[in-house]
Amino acid sequence: MSEPVLAAILTRHRTSPPNILHTLLEIQETLGSVSPGAIPEIARSLDVTEADVAGVLSYYPELRTAKPGRHVIRVCLGESCMANHGATVLARVRAHLKIEVGETTRDGRFTLERVYCVGNCAVGPSLMVDGEVVGRVSPDQVPALLDSYP
Ligand code: FES
Repeated sequence: MSEPVLAAILTRHRTSPPNILHTLLEIQETLGSVSPGAIPEIARSLDVTEADVAGVLSYYPELRTAKPGRHVIRVCLGESCMANHGATVLARVRAHLKIEVGETTRDGRFTLERVYCVGNCAVGPSLMVDGEVVGRVSPDQVPALLDSYP
C-alpha cells in the first residue's frame, strides 16, 4: 500500500466518532483495495481496535482486500433479482469465467463480486460491469456480454 497516500486519507478521516466504513471505502477507491497489512495503521489512526477494522472489512461485500481485475462484475443477489433467476445468472458468470465470487480471473481481466440491490429491481436480474448497470440479463446472454469486454 502507498504509505503517503494512505496517511493522507487517514488524516482526513480522524473524526469522532470514527467512520470505519467510509474510511475503508476511500482507501479502496484511491488504492484499488484495502490491504489487510494496513489494518494496524488504520486502527491506530482512527483510535479503534484492529478487530473493529477487520470486522468492517470482512462484513461488507463492497470492500476488497486485493486489487481487482481490469473489469469488476457485480451480480445482484438482492431479493428481487433472486426472484428473477439472479442465482442462475451468477452461476453462468462463474462458469464462464471459471472463478468464484471474490476471485479474479488468472489473466487479470475480471473480478467477480456480489451486490445486494443496485436500484434496478423492476428490470432484474441485474448486474454491474465497471459500475454500469445492466438489466434483464438472461443467463444465455452472459457469455456474449462478458466477451465484449477487452
Ligand atoms: S434486487 Fe437486484 S436490483 Fe434490486
